Amino acid sequence: MNIGHTIADIRSQVATWKGNGQKIAFVPTMGNLHAGHLALVTAAKQRADRVVVSIFVNPLQFGPNEDFAKYPRTLEADTNALRGVGADLLFLPEVGEIYPQGQQAATKVEVSEVSEGLCGAFRPGHFAGVATVVTKLFNIVQPDLALFGKKDYQQLQVIRRMVADLCFPIEIIGLDTVREPNGLAMSSRNGYLSSAEREQAVVLYRSLKQAVDRLRAGDQDYARIEATGMAELQAHGFRPDYFSIRRADNLATVEVGKPLVVLVAAWLGGTRLIDNVEV
Ligand code: PAF
Repeated sequence: MNIGHTIADIRSQVATWKGNGQKIAFVPTMGNLHAGHLALVTAAKQRADRVVVSIFVNPLQFGPNEDFAKYPRTLEADTNALRGVGADLLFLPEVGEIYPQGQQAATKVEVSEVSEGLCGAFRPGHFAGVATVVTKLFNIVQPDLALFGKKDYQQLQVIRRMVADLCFPIEIIGLDTVREPNGLAMSSRNGYLSSAEREQAVVLYRSLKQAVDRLRAGDQDYARIEATGMAELQAHGFRPDYFSIRRADNLATVEVGKPLVVLVAAWLGGTRLIDNVEV
């Protein structure tokens, strides 16, 4: 696996591959890789000739009181794991390479509608930070396809909408969430949980499945299902931000006959967890 630190490194390597007619897949990450990330790389290898992975903890998508400083940075383990699954090129930029004018970008990409509500309401500026860095990374790597996990369901919808609206010639692939044996969605932030909290965290997935079961059984009292989910989480020591049933394709409010997704964000101690299940 080659490693590049600059935009020029990545552009020249990708240009060589493209010149040979090779198809490029891209998996953007913030590192601290787990089985979910590695599944994205494995799926990327099946769909393309070359797989580029980026590890960049993007300051622009963290709020002032969020965990940018303590976000886990595990570069050696990540590099070994990526070699193990056969990634071809790792992009490891410094903040100054991505934001040469400082830690902010004067030009930001705002994806309205789908960025509003849910996590967008609780993390102002977060999705603009994601959309901006993903735009920059797409312009640097110029992949044919890019892969994202469905655990960050709203992020995936924001990126799909951005790619459509800005006419990026990139296929976006969303892959199912990889879970621990007890159902907990894999996340780099799970490392913040104590072992007792890890046990407690299974309630998140359980509450989603209970809601999905009721929806599948034909229950259309969405407000009551959401309130039950919130109450279940509170009863188990969570502080939920939301427990919400939305349209799966655009996260708009429920419309009968359209596919649905149930999404949750909740705090367990000092850790904010998110998860979702498509109906
Ligand atoms: O999902 C993530 O890890 C990040 O939000 C992403 C897409 C790499 C952008 O920084």
